[in-house]
Amino acid sequence: MIRFASALSAFLLLTLAAACNSNSNSAPADMAAEPAVAAELPGQALYVQNCAVCHGPDGKLGLNGAHDLTKSNLNATGRVYMVTQGLGKMPSFKNQLSPEQIQQVVDYSLTLK
Ligand code: HEC
Repeated sequence: MIRFASALSAFLLLTLAAACNSNSNSAPADMAAEPAVAAELPGQALYVQNCAVCHGPDGKLGLNGAHDLTKSNLNATGRVYMVTQGLGKMPSFKNQLSPEQIQQVVDYSLTLK
C-alpha cells in the first residue's frame, strides 16, 4: 500500500513536471506570437488612415482636442457609437467606413494601452 502510494505520487509528480514543462515551453512562443497577431488586425491600417491624424499612431497624440485612447474607459460599444456618430470635434465616420470597418478599427483601438 505504501509502495503503491509512493509510486502513485511519483507518477503524479512526473506528470505535473511534464505539464509545467510544456507550459513554460509554449509560453515564450505565445508571447512572441502576440505582437504579430496585433499587427495583423485589419483595423490597424484603418486606424492609421483615419484616426492617427488626431489620436496619433499610439493613441496618445491628442491633436485637435482628441482624447488619449490609451486612457479611454469606453468599451467597444461606446467606441463604435463614438466613431459612427462623432462627438464635438471628433468627426463621424459613418460615411467613410462600413459598420464592419468601424468594428475593426474599434477592435484595434482597444489594443492601444
Ligand atoms: C479630427 C480629429 C479626430 C479624428 C480623425 C478622430 N478622432 Fe477620435 N476624438 C477626437 C476628439 C476631439 C475626441 C473628444 C470628443 C469629445 O469628447 O468631445 C475624440 C474622442 C474619441 C474617443 C473617445 C475617447 C474617450 O474615452 O473620451 C474614441 C474612442 C475615439 N475618439 C476613437 C477614434 C477612432 C477609432 C478614430 C478613427 C476612426 C478617431 N477617433 C478619429 C478627434 C478625432
